[in-house]
Amino acid sequence: MSTAPRRATAAEADGFVLLVADDDPTVCDVCEDVAQALGLRVLRAGTTEEALERVEQQRVDLVLVDLRMPAGGGMALLERLKRDHPHVEVILMTGYGSIETAVEAIKRGAYDYLAKPFHVDDLRAKLQRALKEVELTDENRLLREQLRGRPGFGGLVGASPKMQRIYKLILKVSQSRHPVLILGESGTGKELVARSIHFLGPRREKPFVPVDCAGLVPTLIESELFGYIKGAFTGAGRSKRGLLEMAHGGTIFFDEIAELPPDLQAKLLRALQEKEIKPVGSTERLPLDVRVVAATNRNLEPAIREGRFRQDLFYRLNVVTIRIPPLRERKSDIPQLVNFFLERFAEPGRPVRSISEEAMNRLMGYDWPGNVRELENVIERAVALGAGPVLHTVDLPSNLQAPAATGSAAPTQGVLPLRELEKRAILHALGELGGDKLLAARLLGIGKTTLYRKLKEYQLES
Ligand SMILES: Nc1ncnc2c1ncn2[C@@H]1O[C@H](COP(=O)(O)OP(=O)(O)OP(=O)(O)O)[C@@H](O)[C@H]1O
Ligand SMILES: [Mg+2]
Repeated sequence: MSTAPRRATAAEADGFVLLVADDDPTVCDVCEDVAQALGLRVLRAGTTEEALERVEQQRVDLVLVDLRMPAGGGMALLERLKRDHPHVEVILMTGYGSIETAVEAIKRGAYDYLAKPFHVDDLRAKLQRALKEVELTDENRLLREQLRGRPGFGGLVGASPKMQRIYKLILKVSQSRHPVLILGESGTGKELVARSIHFLGPRREKPFVPVDCAGLVPTLIESELFGYIKGAFTGAGRSKRGLLEMAHGGTIFFDEIAELPPDLQAKLLRALQEKEIKPVGSTERLPLDVRVVAATNRNLEPAIREGRFRQDLFYRLNVVTIRIPPLRERKSDIPQLVNFFLERFAEPGRPVRSISEEAMNRLMGYDWPGNVRELENVIERAVALGAGPVLHTVDLPSNLQAPAATGSAAPTQGVLPLRELEKRAILHALGELGGDKLLAARLLGIGKTTLYRKLKEYQLES
C-alpha cells in the first residue's frame, strides 16, 4: 500500500463515510454535495444524540460537527467521540472569528476546524486533507478493498441469467463512451452498475463523479454543475470548478435524473451536445470530455408526455438502456446475496454467521419491494440481533416470520386505508425494534424526521 500523499479522488474516497452533524439542513445539504462529489458516503444527524447513535450503529470515518448544536453542543460531542470512538476524525465547524474555540477544539482532539460561514472550496480542501489522514490510519482499508473486490463482477453479486445478461451489457458498454441510462426500482443496484461501467472501462483512472439530482439545492444546481468565476454572484469570492469539469476525462453519474429542473435539463443538453461548458459568469467556454451515465427509478415516458422531462435530453442520454430487474424476478440470486451480506456485516473477531434453512426459505418466499437494499438491511439487522452462529427465522423482521402467503389466505377483512396500513407498519417496526426510532426509520425506508412527523400525525407520540 502506497503511503505517498495523494489527492483523494472520487474513486479513492469511495467506501469512506462522513457524518454531518448540524441542525441547519442547508449546511447539511452543502456539505453533502461537496462530500459526495469526493466519493464519500454521507450520513446526517440533527442533534448530538442522533450523531452518537449513528456512530454507534455503523461505520463512520469522519464527522463534521457544528459547534452550536442543540442539547450538549458540538464540543461535548467531540469529547464523546474522541473518548469512545478515537479512530473517527472530527472537524468542528465554529462561528466566524472564534479562534479560541477552534484552538480548544484542536486541543481536545479535533483534526481540524472550519470557520462558518465557509466557502465550499475550504470545506472540500479540509475534507480531502482529513480523508488522507483517515486513509493512512485505516488498517482495515486493504482488507475492505479485498472484500469489495471479491464478488463476481465490479462489486455486483448474483449469477441468475438475468444478471448475467446485465454483466455482459456492462462489459460491452464499459469499453465505449456512449451515454447509458440505467433503469430499475429503488434498491436494485443502479449506482453499483454505474460504478462498474466506469471502473471496468478505459477511464477508470479518471474521476467518477456522482451527482444526486434529487439532493441538489435547486438554486445552486447550475453553479454546482458548471462552476462559476469569481464575482459571478454575491458570495462568489473566488472561482469554483463545477462537477462536470471535475469529471473531465472520467465519468459523470446523474442519479435520479428525472428530478433535474427543466431549465437545467436544457443547459445540460447544450453542454453535452457542444462538448463545452460555460461556468456561471464566464464568457469563456471549457472543453468537456465526460462519459455520461444517468439513472432513474421513475418511468420517464409520462414525464416526457407531460413536459416535465425534455425529450431531446432523453434521446441524448438513452443511447444504451440497462434495465435492472427487481429482486423478485431473480430470486435465485438471494442465497448468494445473503452470504455476501453475512460476510460484509460479520463483526470483527467473530466467525461469519450462517443462516438456517427455514430462514432462507422465508427470504426466498418474500417479494422484496425494497429489492437488494431491503435484503441488505434485513441481514444487517439479523446479524445485529441474532445471538448464535446460525441466524434463525426469529432473527428476521416479523413480516418475514410468517410462512409465505399462499394467495388464498387473505380473508375478506375489507380494504384498509393506506394511512392505517402505514400507521400499523410504524407501530409494528417500533415494537419489533424495542422503540429504536433511528433503526425503525431506516428499516421503514424513511428519514428520522419523517418518522417523527408521522408519529405526531397519527398521534402515536406527542
Ligand atoms: N447485485 C448486487 N450485489 C451486491 N450488492 C448489491 C447489489 N445490488 C445492490 N446492492 C447493494 O444494495 C444497496 C442499494 O444499491 P444501489 O444504491 O446501487 O441501488 P439503487 O438502485 O441506486 O437504489 P436507489 O434507487 O434507492 O438509489 C447498496 O448497498 C448496494 O451495495
Ligand atoms: Mg441510487
